[in-house]
Amino acid sequence: MQISNFEKYVFPPEQMAYIKQLKSLTRRIYGDNPKACVVTYGCQQNVSDSEHYKGMLSLMGFEFINEPSQADFILYNTCAVRGHAEDRVYGNIGVVKNYKRKRENIILAVCGCMAQQSHVAERIRKSYPYVDIVFGTQLQHRLPEFLYKRLSGGGRIFELSLENKEIVEDIPISRDGELKGWLPIMYGCNNFCTYCIVPYVRGRERSRHPVKILAEAREMVKAGFKDITLLGQNVNSYGKGCDFNMDFADLIREINNIEGDFRIRFMTSHPKDCTLKLLDAMRDCEKVAHHLHLPFQSGSDRILKQMNRHYDRKTYLELIEAARERIPDISITSDIIVGFPGETYDDFKETLSLVEKVRFSSLFTFIYSPREGTPASVMDDPISREEKGKWFNELLALQDKIAKENSKSFIGKTFRVLCDDYGKAPGIMSGHTSGNCSVEFEADKNMLGEFLDIEITDYTNMLSGKIVK
Ligand code: SAH
Ligand code: SF4
Ligand code: F3S
Repeated sequence: MQISNFEKYVFPPEQMAYIKQLKSLTRRIYGDNPKACVVTYGCQQNVSDSEHYKGMLSLMGFEFINEPSQADFILYNTCAVRGHAEDRVYGNIGVVKNYKRKRENIILAVCGCMAQQSHVAERIRKSYPYVDIVFGTQLQHRLPEFLYKRLSGGGRIFELSLENKEIVEDIPISRDGELKGWLPIMYGCNNFCTYCIVPYVRGRERSRHPVKILAEAREMVKAGFKDITLLGQNVNSYGKGCDFNMDFADLIREINNIEGDFRIRFMTSHPKDCTLKLLDAMRDCEKVAHHLHLPFQSGSDRILKQMNRHYDRKTYLELIEAARERIPDISITSDIIVGFPGETYDDFKETLSLVEKVRFSSLFTFIYSPREGTPASVMDDPISREEKGKWFNELLALQDKIAKENSKSFIGKTFRVLCDDYGKAPGIMSGHTSGNCSVEFEADKNMLGEFLDIEITDYTNMLSGKIVK
């Protein structure tokens, strides 16, 4: 894909015009303080998208509340990655019917990955007539238009086109945090792992222009952000097929050159595209956190093939070794699917043995959930949910043991910690190490946002430590 003339992919002026009109329209309908509730499901990509929705809504004059029952505009930004995520959304939009009985002016919109699926949009159209607006993952910037049209008397809106046009830049943003922030570098996915819905609902891979990314990173650092996470479904394929000559390793070196005391994180790396060049860049860049999230999904080569992952157990383990050679204290985390169709207990034992070998800092573990339209959803899946549950618990118990041992081995060591939150009691603060472990310590609340050297003194359910001079 070519991204020349990126300057023209700005927030469309007509959407800005809708925002201006909505400023007075919402006041006419809802009074002086219109209230919006944005509910976000799913991954950091969705969290980042919601920050843009809030940016646009805040320019329209909306205040934000967490309670949908009190809101004038409710937006559900949904996820489709597993069935459970979808069930919760149907439950929650169902409840809005009651709110609308009392206040018929409420506008309910559903967007994000779940809404992008045509069978979901159809179900909403038929069974949830009080949903006003449904729109897809690539039409984020058109929220003002949709809201204006519906509020000024137009019919229900269903807009799902996934044309994979150029990225729209400079959408207004209202970030959730002040210290830790998300910075998307690419959207979509080309990998088509056989279990995964993401490529179908997010479209093909598209990289943002480095000029835009660097400008946003600089802005964030200037605004006081201390921990910036670069986002993409597969950050290692950043820049592929683009007319600028920069890959992900080059990009993080550029971001590392931005002046200031801050940390760079990124997710997610796909093992098939994780290069030694990237690991070298991680070693050389002092701002890049010593943390690698490298999902392996399964320890069995047979299952990895079925999953269309394009690497095997051996190459995965070699990558881990290469990472640890370069960055000895690197913390490694991963995602695992238990109970992929056709997986046997012997396959699963390979996953357990890989977990034991690598000793991950933490794991995100999921029981396989069939997704309509994916190749895996029509594969034979003879193992019962109950049996998969047993395997899953076995994996959790193993990881729990490893995580405890890892944590105990930190006692007596000193880590550089970003003090990023208030602790559970006055005088206690919490923060994260470069490896993303969370630590509590005694500190004054005005230390929020500072990097501190913390010596780990104890581990019970969490690491605790003290500031060292
Ligand atoms: N792009 C990222 C993952 C995005 S989805 C990557 O490739 O690593 C996050 C995680 O959800 C995946 O790593 C996988 O472990 C899990 N997942 C995806 N589809 C799933 C499904 N159908 N059932 C269960 N877990 C799934
Ligand atoms: Fe899904 Fe695979 Fe793409 Fe990750 S790389 S989003 S798991 S298809
Ligand atoms: Fe879910 Fe979409 Fe993210 S399916 S995990 S919100 S990309």
